[in-house]
Amino acid sequence: MPLPTVYVTRLLPAPIMAALRERYRLVTEPADGAIPTSDELRTGFAEADAVICMLSDSINADLLSHAMKLKILANYAVGYNNIDLAAAKARGIVVTNTPDVLTDATADLAWALMLSVARRVVEGDRWVRTGTWRGWAPTQLLGADLAGKTLGIIGMGRIGQAVAQRAQGFRMRVLYESRRSVASPPGFSWERRPLDEVLAEADFVSLHVPLTESTRHLIGARELSRMKPTAILINTARGPVVDEEALVVALKTGIIAGAGLDVYEQEPLVHPGLIGLPNVVLLPHLGSATLETRIRMGKICLDNIEAVLNGRPAPNQVS
Ligand code: GLV
Ligand code: GLV
Repeated sequence: MPLPTVYVTRLLPAPIMAALRERYRLVTEPADGAIPTSDELRTGFAEADAVICMLSDSINADLLSHAMKLKILANYAVGYNNIDLAAAKARGIVVTNTPDVLTDATADLAWALMLSVARRVVEGDRWVRTGTWRGWAPTQLLGADLAGKTLGIIGMGRIGQAVAQRAQGFRMRVLYESRRSVASPPGFSWERRPLDEVLAEADFVSLHVPLTESTRHLIGARELSRMKPTAILINTARGPVVDEEALVVALKTGIIAGAGLDVYEQEPLVHPGLIGLPNVVLLPHLGSATLETRIRMGKICLDNIEAVLNGRPAPNQVS
């Protein structure tokens, strides 16, 4: 029996590439940093029994129409807004994601952003590197406390809950907005509130919803104006959940105090209005970017591919 063919759109960590080469024939060897052209994607999809694709690959009906024998599309991400699910379903292609394994990494990054913005970590680093720093001063780069403040979580899935749990260590009160009510585990406490109340009461608002038609621009001018002028917005979910143009206006005019962003509306483009603002910290979509996490994500893709190619249900099929 010839080995099944796998197309992986980007280079994954070495142990995952090694496992792929051992078990399958690869359509092509992805080069580090190389972004596939649409022609390469079409060729890959045409030849593969299984594809591992990235959140940066737009998997639309046109691309899927080239898939002749594709059985599974393993998205190397928890979010799968990059895939036309209806088109995949119509072709009988199973779509899977990588939940759970990146929950802690993403929650940690949301906290890294919260702390960086509140304590002006990146501004401080720039001062030291550029020689702007003239020594300790009592009024220099004053930030905001986290202890005793209110954290508002929008979207209480796995990642939202992990962010909420970490708030305990900072002695923060946690409010959340979510479609369903989520009981707090023993020793933790959080309260569910309508979106407007969370926005009005929170000192830090952190977004953890998937991108869907109902969450696109969930945070726009109206919602930003509900927030405190001292509030900080954190987005590690998906860029289009926030109306970036409205956010720039809010940050420039003092409607809110700051923002920490890991995701953008048009990645890798960043709204030019954000670039010059000192009260924002901008990261290049690093939510799941730890070596351990990226290896675990690869293993999940491998498990799902193996299951589907052997006629078993995929452990992480998305609905
Ligand atoms: C990252 O953004 C993911 O969805 O895994
Ligand atoms: C959302 O928070 C998830 O982990 O799916």
